[in-house]
Amino acid sequence: MPDRIPAASLPAGSVGRAGRWAVVNRDGQVAAVSARCRHQLGDLSRGSLDASGCLVCPWHGSRYDVDSGEMVSGPKGFLWYVGRTPGYTQLIKAYGKVLVLRRRPVRRSGEHYVVEADQGADLRPRD
Ligand code: FES
Repeated sequence: MPDRIPAASLPAGSVGRAGRWAVVNRDGQVAAVSARCRHQLGDLSRGSLDASGCLVCPWHGSRYDVDSGEMVSGPKGFLWYVGRTPGYTQLIKAYGKVLVLRRRPVRRSGEHYVVEADQGADLRPRD
């Protein structure tokens, strides 16, 4: 069974979940990335899109480029603390540029968006 999400539940500018994927709708451009933040595994499918189309983690605000999967802004906090952490933020951002989010194309199938299956060997971590 493919990972899918009802199209009606993913209007432009929103983020949802299809299986283990965070699915984003950037003004009609729909794409999927792995749903676990590279910082502390926050659920990116509960995140949001900012004005520049980046996916923002709901826990500490790390921002991801959905096209590349790279973390473009590091977290502002850790564990239950939310606030300034300059050196730590830069360290995690460097890590997030290496261990990028996995990406998958999404197609429309009737009333659903369907995350395309892996088209080949993917040796990177599973989530
Ligand atoms: S878990 Fe995503 S920014 Fe901390």
